[in-house]
Amino acid sequence: MKTVIMILACMAAIPAHASEVVIAQLQDTYHSDGAGAFSAERGKGMWMQTFKQQESGKPVSCATCHTADIRQRGAHVRTGKIIEPMAASTNAEGLNDPKKIEKWFLRNCKWTMGRECTAQEKGNFLAYFLSE
Ligand code: HEC
Repeated sequence: MKTVIMILACMAAIPAHASEVVIAQLQDTYHSDGAGAFSAERGKGMWMQTFKQQESGKPVSCATCHTADIRQRGAHVRTGKIIEPMAASTNAEGLNDPKKIEKWFLRNCKWTMGRECTAQEKGNFLAYFLSE
């Protein structure tokens, strides 16, 4: 019984949305890299913006795989792999690992926009994920 109570106490100490903590930490890092205040609106604007994909020449955006409603599940445009929603409110499991987030920012910004995202842009995207 004691053990059960201790386990419950430990679980209660974990923040409800670990992703919020991880996002705040990453945004701090971006500030130290010179980024200013973050805007969910600008993050959303860029999420919807279309770019010419380098290999296919087709118009693509972040929404191409993640959908325009980040509270919904997405699917990879080529492989069909299901992608969990990006909105912090609907995906408590996601956005919990800074290394994973940076890995996907790197890969997806390059694929979609043909270049890496700046610290400012990444912070804006994360503000957008938190706002939905
Ligand atoms: C070609 C399809 C595709 C496009 C386009 C795309 N993504 Fe992704 N993204 C994925 C996949 C697949 C994952 C991994 C999902 C998983 O395994 O949890 C992912 C994961 C992520 C993650 C990590 C989520 C987490 O839980 O840690 C972030 C952040 C992200 N994408 C941001 C972006 C941004 C910003 C753009 C636009 C610049 C973008 N993505 C465009 C396919 C895409």
